[in-house]
Amino acid sequence: TPAAGRIEFDNVTFGFPGAETPVINSASFVAEPGKTTAIIGSTGAGKTVLLNLMLRLYDPQQGSVTIDGAPVDKLTRAQLAESISLVPQRPYLFGGTIATNLRFGRTDASDDELWEALRVAQGEDFVREKELGLDEPVSQGGTNVSGGQRQRLSIARALVAKPLVYLFDDSFSALDVATDARLRAALPDATEGATTIIVAQRVSTITEADQILVMEGGEIVGRGTHDELLTDNEVYQEIVRS
Ligand code: GTP
Ligand code: MG
Repeated sequence: TPAAGRIEFDNVTFGFPGAETPVINSASFVAEPGKTTAIIGSTGAGKTVLLNLMLRLYDPQQGSVTIDGAPVDKLTRAQLAESISLVPQRPYLFGGTIATNLRFGRTDASDDELWEALRVAQGEDFVREKELGLDEPVSQGGTNVSGGQRQRLSIARALVAKPLVYLFDDSFSALDVATDARLRAALPDATEGATTIIVAQRVSTITEADQILVMEGGEIVGRGTHDELLTDNEVYQEIVRS
């Protein structure tokens, strides 16, 4: 079982069956524990597919994905799920209550831990306003919860699981700028020591990241800090201007 959560992509190429061109092309990078790696790039660039390769939703045709040096295809899906929490681009809630949804990754979490995760995820206020609080019913698919609330519950669910690796797929762009800022201010303490990977649309979400990967057409066309990329990466400069 992984102990640190260091993710390494070595020359990874992946294409969907039957498609002529790969959607990920020779991608190499390392995401270190205790650091935030951000991924930015236009729609269709391959950001979600890159995250899905870590969870083995698909396996690459070339290259390797490892966690703490172990190829992810040597781990069981249960070991992967224990190590990595994904907040998907379109979060899904199960029929049950707010509490059962938050405990999805760790059934033994206490109510205090759920409230703490909600506080970080900026979901505390709306859950407190519910008549039954944590025991408020949630319909399958979360149709009785707004999109932004679904997103925050999904973030809280990942925090409750306390994984080695957090994957946030575009989890902050639906939030207003002030909520996004509060959440990101609270996140470093809550995820301390973990490997954090954030796919983002807004540059303001990721300016503090330790490393930013710029993706275009399935390739990593730039990497560095915000300041470094501003100086020397045209694709990044274009994203900042738009
Ligand atoms: P946004 O979420 O819109 O910002 O884009 P993204 O960067 O996350 O792109 P994503 O990784 O979802 O997709 C990369 C490429 O793979 C795109 O050309 C998609 O059309 C294609 N793609 C994604 N999922 C599938 C799939 O299930 N089957 C096939 N054939 N192609 C897919
Ligand atoms: Mg995506």
